[in-house]
Amino acid sequence: MTTLAALARPEVEKQPVYEPGKPIEDVARELGLDVHHIVKLASNENPFGGSPLGLAAAQRALAQAELYPDGDCVALRARLAQHWGLSPRQFVIGNGSNEIIELLGHVFLRAGDEVVMGDCAFVVYRLVTLLFGAKPVTVPMRLDRAHDLDAMAAAVTPRTRLVFVASPNNPTGAAHSPAELLDFARALPGHVVLCVDEAYAEYLDPAAAPDLRPLLAEGRAGRAGGHVIGLRTFSKIYGLAGLRIGYGYASEALAALLNRVRQPFNVNAISQAAACAALGDVDFVARCRRENAAGLRQLAAGLDAQRVEYAPSVANFLLIKVGDGARCFQWMQTQGMIVRPVAAYGLPEWIRLTVGTAEQNARFLGLLAEFLKS
Ligand SMILES: Cc1ncc(COP(=O)(O)O)c(C=O)c1O
Repeated sequence: MTTLAALARPEVEKQPVYEPGKPIEDVARELGLDVHHIVKLASNENPFGGSPLGLAAAQRALAQAELYPDGDCVALRARLAQHWGLSPRQFVIGNGSNEIIELLGHVFLRAGDEVVMGDCAFVVYRLVTLLFGAKPVTVPMRLDRAHDLDAMAAAVTPRTRLVFVASPNNPTGAAHSPAELLDFARALPGHVVLCVDEAYAEYLDPAAAPDLRPLLAEGRAGRAGGHVIGLRTFSKIYGLAGLRIGYGYASEALAALLNRVRQPFNVNAISQAAACAALGDVDFVARCRRENAAGLRQLAAGLDAQRVEYAPSVANFLLIKVGDGARCFQWMQTQGMIVRPVAAYGLPEWIRLTVGTAEQNARFLGLLAEFLKS
């Protein structure tokens, strides 16, 4: 009998496995620790919980769980249209923004196509590229660990279909100014689609957050400028990672293509209701942005005091140079602190830490001091 491996598409056999942050329950079971003692600062989740308005709406929506969700996410797209001042037809809603990255692959990637990305960018761009038989073209990132946009533009060839820029970038935490991103998009040729991944945008000062709307307006006016999509998520500042919902904003034409390749009911009803309400949870978002900025300052001061190197971040996480990232990850785990090793990003000496509550940050700093003495 033919083996399943021989039957599968060759890309599947070669597909690298995504390693998520370790769940609290797994660590508790493996190390015999009390789940309540464990802090997970490994997946850039919101330490202040989910948006209260979002969670209340999710509870209400549960009462109608027997019904299929609205496959077109009409209410959410209308709410987003209002929020952004765009048309509801300019949005695609995904099962997490991750799904939209995959939809981009479905629409645009054929075997042999090229996808340009930073060498220390969010790993899912690479996974999706490989899954569709396309070639990741990785561009070294600058010393401040933001993308080298000039080098990325220079890496575009006639085979390039997609270019990914995350701002702020995961795992480095660096961001580009809105103007830099607009200039970059305008410099790209018309045969590529630029995806600006804005998963952490709400942690920035609103004036510093990426915003592709000027490009979309130029496109509508028929002026030059490549194809662009911005990705946002409810997993980060809105605190709804477990519900899996994110969205893309783009031209109507690009959103229509992406909507054509998704599953009919790709986003469940509970998540749609939660996202609609969370979008209006202005106080919660403002509080989380403030607390996160304070947490970044607390961690920076603590790391400076210990003379530990870190990459300055504007997101809700930061890269910390601990010497041996894998050993630090293992040791921290035995102490009930889950952090993220980042050797897969070519950074074996570093770990990535999500900014926690003031108490969690203090606990991490105390543990780090102990680890560095060990
Ligand atoms: C840069 C970046 N993009 C996208 C995502 C995926 O987010 P979602 O939960 O919306 O799929 C993440 C999650 O960590 C991320 O770091």
